[in-house]
Amino acid sequence: MTISDPRTFQVKSFGCQMNVYDGERMAETLEAEGMTAAAEGAEADLVVLNTCHIREKAAEKVYSDIGRLMKRGHAPMIAVAGCVAQAEGAEISRRAPGVGIVVGPQAYHNLPELVRKAARGEAALDTGMPLLSKFGALPARRRQAPSAFLTVQEGCDKFCTYCVVPYTRGAEISRPFAAILDEAEALIDAGAKEITLLGQNVNAWRDGEGRGLDALIRALDALPGLARIRYTTSHPNDMTDGLIRAHADVEKLMPYLHLPVQSGSDRVLRAMNRSHSGDSYLRILDRVRAARPDIAISGDFIVGFPGETDAEFEETLKIVETVNYAQAFSFKYSPRPGTPAAEMEDQIPADVMDERLQRLQALLNIQQLAFNQAKVGLRTELLLERPGRKPGQKIGKTPWLQSVHLETVVAIGDIVEVELLSAGPNSLAGTESLTEAA
Ligand code: 5AD
Ligand code: SF4
Repeated sequence: MTISDPRTFQVKSFGCQMNVYDGERMAETLEAEGMTAAAEGAEADLVVLNTCHIREKAAEKVYSDIGRLMKRGHAPMIAVAGCVAQAEGAEISRRAPGVGIVVGPQAYHNLPELVRKAARGEAALDTGMPLLSKFGALPARRRQAPSAFLTVQEGCDKFCTYCVVPYTRGAEISRPFAAILDEAEALIDAGAKEITLLGQNVNAWRDGEGRGLDALIRALDALPGLARIRYTTSHPNDMTDGLIRAHADVEKLMPYLHLPVQSGSDRVLRAMNRSHSGDSYLRILDRVRAARPDIAISGDFIVGFPGETDAEFEETLKIVETVNYAQAFSFKYSPRPGTPAAEMEDQIPADVMDERLQRLQALLNIQQLAFNQAKVGLRTELLLERPGRKPGQKIGKTPWLQSVHLETVVAIGDIVEVELLSAGPNSLAGTESLTEAA
C-alpha cells in the first residue's frame, strides 16, 4: 500500500558532515512544501535515509534500517538518499521493494516531485548529477543552531584508489563566491555564530577569478555576527601558502585542522594514489604550526590497505608519534565496488586488520587524552551549542573543537569565558570564569 499524502517526515543522516548538511537542506525542502518534521519518537509518514557508501558496513546498514521500518504497523514511505542511492540506484528498490524513492546527493532538490510520484505509485528515481543546480533550486536557509555547516565544494578528482567518493559525489566543483556569502549571511541571520565550510576537498575550493579558500575565509571574517570559522575536509596537496597564512592572521579562523594522511608508508601512499609522501605531509604541518603554534591537528587513517606489511604499518604508528594528533579517525580498509584497490591482490586478513586498528587507536587515544589534559587550567572561550544531560548543564566547544560541560545560565548560542578544570578522552569539564573588574 502506498501512502498517498505524506504529511510528516523524518530525515536520518549517516556518514560525513556533508550528509548532515544535505539532510538539513532536504528537511527545509520538504518544509517548504508544507510537510512538517515528525515529533521526536513519532512515526513519520515519510522517512528519508540519507546514506553513506564509504565503507561496506555503512552501506549495508541501510538495508537493516529499511527492514525495521517495514515492520511498523503502517510502513512509511521510504526514500533512500545519499551515496548508497547514487552508487546502487534502481538496484535498491529491487533488493528492498518497500523503498519508494531513490535520490542521489546532487538531485535532492527534486525530492518534492519524487514524493508526489511515489504517492501515485510511480517509480521515483533520480540519480542525475546536474552541475550545482540543486543549490539554486533549494529554499532559503532556516536553521538556527549556533554552529552551522555550509557546503562550498563537492566531489573529488583525486581518485584515491580505495575511495568511492569520486563515483558517488562526482567531479570536483566549487560553488560561486557570492552564493556562498549569501548563504553565510542567511545562516548568521538565522542565529549561526560559527560556520564550518564543507567540501570533500574543501581546500581545493577556487573560483573563476583565481580566489582560493583563504579568500572565502577572509570574506567570512568580515561578516558581522559571525564569531568562528572552520573548514573540513582538506587534502594535503591543496594546503596553499595563502590558506596557511590565514591561520596566522584571521582571528575568527579556529585553530583546528583536519588533514588526513591515511598511512605513514610511502609505498602504501603511492598505491593509494595519494600523491604526497609522509615527509611532504610533515613539512606541511611544520608550516601550519609555524603560522598557528597552538593548532589542533586531526587526521584519518586506513589500516590494512591491500599489501600493507607489518613494517609499513609500523611507519603509520611512527608518523602518528611524530605529528601528535589532537583527534583522529581510523578505519579498517573496506573494499568498495568499482574502486581500483578492491581489485588489488594481497587483501589483508580481518584478524591482522583488527590487531593493527587496535594498536593504532590505542596510540591515538593516548594522544587525544594528552591534548585535552594539556588544556586543563587554561582560560578560554566556549561557544555554547546544546544542553547537557544534567539540569543547568550546557555543552560548548573550545576553539580546538573539544566539548566542554559546564553549569551556566548563559544562553545557548552565546560565547562564554571558562576555566578548564578536568579532562577525559572525549570531553572536558569547565567552570565559568568571572572576568575581573577593570
Ligand atoms: N575503507 C576504509 N576507510 C576508508 N575511507 C575512505 N575510503 C575507505 C575505504 N574504502 C576513510 C578515509 C577517509 C575517511 C572519510 O574514510 O580515511 O579519509
Ligand atoms: Fe559517506 Fe563519502 Fe558519501 Fe560522505 S561523501 S556520505 S563519507 S560516501
